Amino acid sequence: MARKFFVGGNWKCNGTAEEVKKIVNTLNEAQVPSQDVVEVVVSPPYVFLPLVKSTLRPDFHVAAQNCWVKKGGAYTGEVSAEMLVSLDIPWVILGHSERRAILNETNEFVGDKVAYALAQGLKVIACVGETLEQREAGSTMDVVAAQTKAIADRVSNWTNVVIAYEPVWAIGTGKVASPAQAQEVHDELRKWLAKNVSADVAATTRIIYGGSVNGGNCKELGGQADVDGFLVGGASLKPEFIDIIKAAE
Ligand code: G3H
Repeated sequence: MARKFFVGGNWKCNGTAEEVKKIVNTLNEAQVPSQDVVEVVVSPPYVFLPLVKSTLRPDFHVAAQNCWVKKGGAYTGEVSAEMLVSLDIPWVILGHSERRAILNETNEFVGDKVAYALAQGLKVIACVGETLEQREAGSTMDVVAAQTKAIADRVSNWTNVVIAYEPVWAIGTGKVASPAQAQEVHDELRKWLAKNVSADVAATTRIIYGGSVNGGNCKELGGQADVDGFLVGGASLKPEFIDIIKAAE
């Protein structure tokens, strides 16, 4: 089964209401390939999710940038998966490296979050990726495999999972992975899924790349056999996000 190209825009902690409206207008006016060719999901900060969901074109979808690891309750500042479901938010990003590094989210905690969010009916963009130090030590695949294993240990149905391979050294640095570097990890990750989960999950799960993707480098990256799309940070706030969506063609 062919894997549909997926382009996610992670707006991170950016934007005012006015800026968000402008981004949505730009997206709404854009000519892009149809939903049969590319799945587009944008992820505004929590507070703008209802605004974006109600004003965004219907062929684009929204994602939250995080959610709590279990049912809501006395967890000040958190947002539960149930809340997102009640607002018809279909997607959530989990395990982003910024949360792993700054908020000390462990592999196991991320795995628990992925399992809980899926069980509530959310679709998950699960992020994995190595630091520069880990890459230089030759442990890229060990790190990525351990992060993926923590998810695989807790998840049996991968239908609603997209894996985002995001090398930490490429995030927000302008230092994008070369197409060969991205392809190498995506290929190894797919082989890991084949060996440790199933051949079917390996063949059907989308593995997207994130880290300094822009309008200039997206076409070559997206042309790699195992790169099924992108998770875009900085460039998703700009009109060039449209060019990145068009890399699906
Ligand atoms: O979630 C997106 C990634 O962190 C990539 O961010 O495109 O700004 O490097 P970036």
